[in-house]
Amino acid sequence: MTEYRLGINISALKDNEPVAANAGGKDFAIVKIDGKIHALDGVCTHKGGPLGKGMVNEGRLVCPWHGGAFEIDTGRADESTPWVTDINVYRVRVDSTDGEVYIDF
Ligand code: FES
Repeated sequence: MTEYRLGINISALKDNEPVAANAGGKDFAIVKIDGKIHALDGVCTHKGGPLGKGMVNEGRLVCPWHGGAFEIDTGRADESTPWVTDINVYRVRVDSTDGEVYIDF
């Protein structure tokens, strides 16, 4: 695994407002909930919708294209939206000195 800098500072993240990020040629959706940062695949498993431009609803990340939903903690596809399959989640680290967010994959 390699650690990549996402180019996002924790101070710029708002709770429940996903942002898109790219590192190592891969797209991610970054979500802050109750101060904790989550990183998930940024490309929807249905038709490739941009999950970093989705929304958060009841602890799920919702795809902006057709509403596919994923548990933010696990990446598991929600049973109510069977047209999507599970996505990956990733470990993130926030640098305690400058607030920059790093991802491992
Ligand atoms: S592309 Fe995400 S639900 Fe269709």
